[in-house]
Amino acid sequence: MNSFTYQNPVKVIFGAGTLAQTGVEAAKLGSRALIVSYGDGSVTETLVKIIGLLAEAGVASQEFLEVTPNPPIEMITRGVEVAKAFAADFVIGVGGGSAMDAAKAIAAGVLYPYGDLWNMVYASHSNITAKPPEKALPLMQIPTLPATGSEMNMCSVVSSTMRKQKSYIWADCLFAKTAILDPELTYTLPPFQTACGGIDAISHVLEIFVNGQPKSDLLHEFQLGVIKTIVKNLPIALANPTDADARTELMWAATCGINGWASPGDAWTPMHQVGHVLTSRHGINHGTSLAIMMPAWMNYFKRIKPAPYERFEREIMPIADFKAFIAQCGVATTLSEKGVTESDIPGIVEGVKTVSFNAEGVLASNPPVTEQMLVEILKEAL
Ligand code: NZQ
Ligand code: ZN
Repeated sequence: MNSFTYQNPVKVIFGAGTLAQTGVEAAKLGSRALIVSYGDGSVTETLVKIIGLLAEAGVASQEFLEVTPNPPIEMITRGVEVAKAFAADFVIGVGGGSAMDAAKAIAAGVLYPYGDLWNMVYASHSNITAKPPEKALPLMQIPTLPATGSEMNMCSVVSSTMRKQKSYIWADCLFAKTAILDPELTYTLPPFQTACGGIDAISHVLEIFVNGQPKSDLLHEFQLGVIKTIVKNLPIALANPTDADARTELMWAATCGINGWASPGDAWTPMHQVGHVLTSRHGINHGTSLAIMMPAWMNYFKRIKPAPYERFEREIMPIADFKAFIAQCGVATTLSEKGVTESDIPGIVEGVKTVSFNAEGVLASNPPVTEQMLVEILKEAL
């Protein structure tokens, strides 16, 4: 097993009905909250409850409801202005990864001394000029979509509409002080979002399982455990969106898959790096981008490095069945289904090279992915 340093300071309050603790917990963080969420009604009921709970606890609040998926830095910049105008002393993210990541970037943006907020972003792995934030307003996260684990990690994934790029901010100050994980908030998720969330959460541990250290008993059991939990409970939640047990299992599995427990000593996200380009260039949502990448990646690398893929096939299911499982959940598993053709591949490769190829000219992975290999993987994904 590899050596590692691990730290995760997030206080997690988990379980059905825990939303009720929002006011008391929020009052420990500040007295003026900026609430960052979507504005089109999907979580309105939750927002109304949160505002009421804050008021009861004597916390003033201001909503910023401009979050859209793959949060653009331009929107985050407006959020910072709203936070400053309101004199917010802490930030609450309510929603999926996009809302929580926007909340993180806004909380850091308020105190950011280096100008353009895009400077916070690791926009090139070969020439790292990012100036990550060192300070942020205190953060509370209230996830309504189990997927990204943003509630318990130090990452914020953001986009630039102008640059057609998507990458991440990574900084200690982005850890939430408190995360309230109430599975009841996920009952309203439409099947597509439920499925995409589960698939994304599988990808977080699968990336580490297949690309990470070859010998690590507990970590591999943990990674496979997260996958098994999602494979078992996702169809149940899709069939019955208010199944309390399934929603609870999905929520905790998603958080645990990317809060560091499944990956100490490993940090591999090559499929995500390609997925980000599928999103920024072709508008493919995050979960679908991974639903397409995972089977293609596994089919390609099984020939080169069979061991982890054979174990996946033994302990989870054959790769072909996994692809069928994703399709049964209602998510596309090929680029063609999303209108991407072979002629788009050079542009996708260029996008991955621009952001994610390292100084050695490869996509960091185990084994490293060259430009030619990436072309072949994308052909496999067509
Ligand atoms: O648009 P509406 O109708 O409001 O739908 C919302 C939202 O747009 C809907 N939704 C969320 N909670 C709901 C709900 N609808 C009904 N009931 C609820 N309870 O879901 C739509 C999608 O939300 P979004 O936040 O975009 O989804 P997700 O959680 O999948 O987040 C994706 C973003 O997170 C980033 C992705 O790259 C992407 O930008 N990631 C963040 C990570 C991190 N911070 O560690 C890691 C991940 O790998 C990922 O990269
Ligand atoms: Zn993801």
